Amino acid sequence: MSQFPSDKPVLVTCGLPYANGMAHVGHLRTYIPADIFVRSLKKMGQEVTFVCGSDTHGTPIVFNAEELNTTPKELIKIYHKHFDETFKKVGVKFDAFGTTDDPTNHNRTTDIVNKLIENGYVFPKTIEIAYCSSCDRFLPDRYVKGVCPHCKKEARGDECDQGCGKHLEPGELESPTCTTCGGPAEYRKQEHFFFKLSEFKDFLIEHLEKLGGTTNARNYALGWIKQELTDWCITRNLEWGVKFPGHDDLVVYVWVDAPIGYIAFTEEWAEANNESWEKFWKDDGRIVHFIGGDIIYHHCIFWPAMLKGAGYSQPWAVVASGMVKIEDKTFSKSRGYVVWVGEDYLDHGFHPDLLRYYLASYTSHTKELNFSWKVFQDKINTELVGVFGNFLYRTLLFTFKNFKEIPEGEIKKETLDEIAKTIESTNEAMENYEFKKYADTAMALASYGNTYFQSNEPWKLVKEDKDACGEVIANCIQIAKALCLLFEPILPEKMEDAWEQIGMETDVHTAGYAEGLVPVVSGTALAKPSILFEKIEDEKTEEMEAIATGRVKAAMEKESGTGKKKEIKEMKELITFDDFSKLDLRVGTIVNAEKIKKSKKLLRLEVDLGEENLRQVVAGIALTHDPEDVKGKQVIVLVNLEPAKLCGVESHGMVLAGVDDEGNAILLQPEKEADAGTNIG
Ligand code: 2FM
Ligand code: ZN
Repeated sequence: MSQFPSDKPVLVTCGLPYANGMAHVGHLRTYIPADIFVRSLKKMGQEVTFVCGSDTHGTPIVFNAEELNTTPKELIKIYHKHFDETFKKVGVKFDAFGTTDDPTNHNRTTDIVNKLIENGYVFPKTIEIAYCSSCDRFLPDRYVKGVCPHCKKEARGDECDQGCGKHLEPGELESPTCTTCGGPAEYRKQEHFFFKLSEFKDFLIEHLEKLGGTTNARNYALGWIKQELTDWCITRNLEWGVKFPGHDDLVVYVWVDAPIGYIAFTEEWAEANNESWEKFWKDDGRIVHFIGGDIIYHHCIFWPAMLKGAGYSQPWAVVASGMVKIEDKTFSKSRGYVVWVGEDYLDHGFHPDLLRYYLASYTSHTKELNFSWKVFQDKINTELVGVFGNFLYRTLLFTFKNFKEIPEGEIKKETLDEIAKTIESTNEAMENYEFKKYADTAMALASYGNTYFQSNEPWKLVKEDKDACGEVIANCIQIAKALCLLFEPILPEKMEDAWEQIGMETDVHTAGYAEGLVPVVSGTALAKPSILFEKIEDEKTEEMEAIATGRVKAAMEKESGTGKKKEIKEMKELITFDDFSKLDLRVGTIVNAEKIKKSKKLLRLEVDLGEENLRQVVAGIALTHDPEDVKGKQVIVLVNLEPAKLCGVESHGMVLAGVDDEGNAILLQPEKEADAGTNIG
């Protein structure tokens, strides 16, 4: 049964972008799937409201405004407009897009904080706050940096951004320094206000156990909650923000008023549409939050506790997207690994729907997504141009040349069954937030269409039996109709065009999936079709890659002053001890070594691992190691790696080596001579 029954309205929200910088592909990884979800749910017949807005408070914005010699108000105006326009350009259609500085949000936040106070969940406590005596001010959040008390890496006041990633409470940072003047800060006592998060532990466990959405969100949050929940300081010494009731010198922490924005924007939508916001926030409408994987803690722990404490409804689901990499490198604006939506994509004439397709279909929503221009080109050319576009165009061109209208012909049961089966699978994928599966399943229907067209050979049939040919074509147009509906959530603008090309006069955005099973009307006149998806040429990809490389180079030069800068290496995802113990590592002695003819980089090695026979292992060390030099060396070998063929030579394991910045291999060796086959672990 659907988790979204038609009598329960759905509210979808997206993590609010900070109005402090431009939109990049990383942002869209959350917003586009959310938009696809909303469009798709509507097509299933669901009532959906979609809200978002700019996150406008917090220290980075005050900081940035100071640096640019402007006010936070002026600064957020610029970026709010930028996000609003960008979302529209890429087809992300919110029903309301406000700002957390809107009066509605100030009022709703004040109301909620007052409720929390009334209900006994807020208490004052004197704590140590970093203070800079030369700037003569308290230093909230990013105004202070220092050493993370947990992992000892450099960290900001509210978050260990370069190390363990933990949220830091005021006063926790060690060796604080002022980020404005660079001088040392001291800790001074000051009264602040805390939210009793610790009282919500049992409630949160129960809430999370039934929370829908992606399992990454629920599982991470359950993992954290089983550790200690500390009360949460919710006030800051700032002027910019929502005032903490009764204390004009304090504002609430940005992570209090930002999620409350979700309620405020629902109110703004309700006000403009004569609707009710309470049906979501006070009743049992279904609230689905789409967020980035880095803010699960805030949405699965702080936020439901705050809602509960103030007497509001709970989120139904939290859908958390995986991180975005750029050309296989960790996303980083300062290091140049970024793709700006405007400057790098739209301004180069790429259609927004292509990016929507890439983001939806590259990988599952919770996994890491790599944006690469080559992969982008390949996916578009093979899938959108080669499969879907090809089916639509050949069908429509053939129809135009031979019939000029949708021909007469029975829509066969097999055709309708295939469409019905596809819709059932795509609906299921969508309800499970599996956007890739949705896209792949819809694309499989386009492949089915191509096969159907090809195997029926209408180009022959038209000469032998025009009626039979007409029937094949009518069935193809039926498939095309279903495809337009299925792809509308992903490719909204392109499908508007395609819908018109197949002679439909209704609105493809409001038509439901069920319409895909309604037979097309024969006799509908069709105009000469146009090509929907153009191939991306190699030169274009190369141009984009050159821009990306140039940006990284410029960023490196800027950071180091001289040019070369050591890359900060990102740690791979954590593994369990069990994962590690699956690796069978042993000491081996290289007995024979020779070059592999077809390869400059590979050596064929025969390694003694204390087994009956020597093992053949192929190693990529030929550029740095002569065969003669490695003979007799002891190395570490991963012996249970699946066999693979490299340049036609089978490899039964892997010799472990480090790789330096120039790409040179450095063989790993035991500290002293060991028996061949000695286990490592
Ligand atoms: O991490 C961020 O980009 C925040 N601006 C998200 C806020 S989402 C919500 F809770 F308001
Ligand atoms: Zn840390």
